[in-house]
Amino acid sequence: MEDLGQAIRGKKAKVAVIGLGYVGLPVACSFARAGFQVLGVERDETRAAQIGAGICPIGGREPGLAELLNEVIEGGRLQVTTDSSECRDAEVALIAVETPVDSVSKKPSYEALRAALRDLGPNLGPGCLLVIESTIAPQTMERIVKPLLEETSGLKADEDFHLAYCPERVMPGKLLANLRTCNRVIGGMSPAAAGLARELYRHIVEADLDTTDALTAELVKTTENAYRDVQIAFANEIALLCENVGADVYQVRRLVNKSPYRDMHVPGAGVGGHCTPKDPWLLVHGTEGKLQPKLIPTARGINDGMPLHVAALAEEGLAEAGRPVKGAKVAVLGYSYLENTSDARNSPTVPLVERLQALQATVVIHDPHFAEYSIDLEEAVTGSDCVVIMVAHDEYRNVDLTDLRAWVATPVLIDGRNIFDKATARELGFVYKGVGNR
Ligand SMILES: NC(=O)c1ccc[n+]([C@@H]2O[C@H](COP(=O)([O-])OP(=O)(O)OC[C@H]3O[C@@H](n4cnc5c(N)ncnc54)[C@H](O)[C@@H]3O)[C@@H](O)[C@H]2O)c1
Repeated sequence: MEDLGQAIRGKKAKVAVIGLGYVGLPVACSFARAGFQVLGVERDETRAAQIGAGICPIGGREPGLAELLNEVIEGGRLQVTTDSSECRDAEVALIAVETPVDSVSKKPSYEALRAALRDLGPNLGPGCLLVIESTIAPQTMERIVKPLLEETSGLKADEDFHLAYCPERVMPGKLLANLRTCNRVIGGMSPAAAGLARELYRHIVEADLDTTDALTAELVKTTENAYRDVQIAFANEIALLCENVGADVYQVRRLVNKSPYRDMHVPGAGVGGHCTPKDPWLLVHGTEGKLQPKLIPTARGINDGMPLHVAALAEEGLAEAGRPVKGAKVAVLGYSYLENTSDARNSPTVPLVERLQALQATVVIHDPHFAEYSIDLEEAVTGSDCVVIMVAHDEYRNVDLTDLRAWVATPVLIDGRNIFDKATARELGFVYKGVGNR
């Protein structure tokens, strides 16, 4: 362990990063920039080849990442492989693979995590440090990660190798900046493992590195995302109540937040991304016992219902304009789950479009960050009977409502992200309905 500590301090330890997605790629690049020799292991061959050629596979606006990737590949600091046996001589291994939940049971689906552990186990050398970065349910380190690694490596955690959990707090659009500036929690399966992981992350993180035990760290990560989901659900419920009485939720929110210690979140057309819709379920699953949680599943239900509510607003707006939804052309603006990114995982646009299609509307999707949806905005909207804003991409924020009015056949505007002024839209003749402001 003393050797590993020295190797980490001197940046001599070889670092392997398993899974080069939204998390693993910037992590691998950051350690390479810090001066470590890094091996990226990515099972998707196309993605691995692209990254190995210095081409960033992450679209949207991701400041500095493409340039950094190119720099560390050119400089030979980051190498990429699909073959996990190449991790043999790594002294540090970080796992950043996806950890979704089953779409029906909502239980964790650890296929990628188990595969990564099984592949890594036989290549784990004595004295090395293994860190899980993926978000996992509480007790997963103890119940799954440790036994699977011990079984496949023949080594004993704490005695022969060190095991820690260090969840990520990055968001697409700010990956490198978040990695550098967000506080991190490090949960060690032993205090020694936590200490080593802390020394490692000190090379790339400029913020607090709080060490604790693995269970606490698992609870911290899933709780912080469940907290966000519940807060958004609260804002969404207030939005729906404001609609009931003809009030503007954004006015209400602004004034509520002038009261001390209040921080009402922003309501909207739904919650997406790889993390927020599933991490509350990981928390629920990992803490199963006598008490059945009520608030967290209810919040999930409210947020999942928002895209369907947007579809209902479109139907209502079309009816007010004298146009049945059946056969109407609906232009849906935004396919990603977050503005100015190309991350469409769990995008609320998908259930919205399914609902509109079930109502027999003709749907055109537009999104500048996806090749298949990046037709000219005017072309996408021209002749439509209803325009639905699902994502607040800058391109939509900058649309002139007078132009939009000229392009559409029937002026119905459904604003799921509060990017247009209701009064201006109505002056131009739109039937305008916003989430929480119709
Ligand atoms: N995306 C985010 O903003 C974010 C933020 C915080 C935490 N997280 C968590 O981090 C983890 C990773 O998320 P992500 O968004 O980077 O996922 P991702 O799907 O973008 O990346 C995962 C990558 O791992 C690869 N992979 C899967 N199994 C593998 C294996 N056995 N060997 C090698 N490569 C393998 C996949 O091909 C993929 O490229 C998840 O647990 C997620 O909840 C994500």
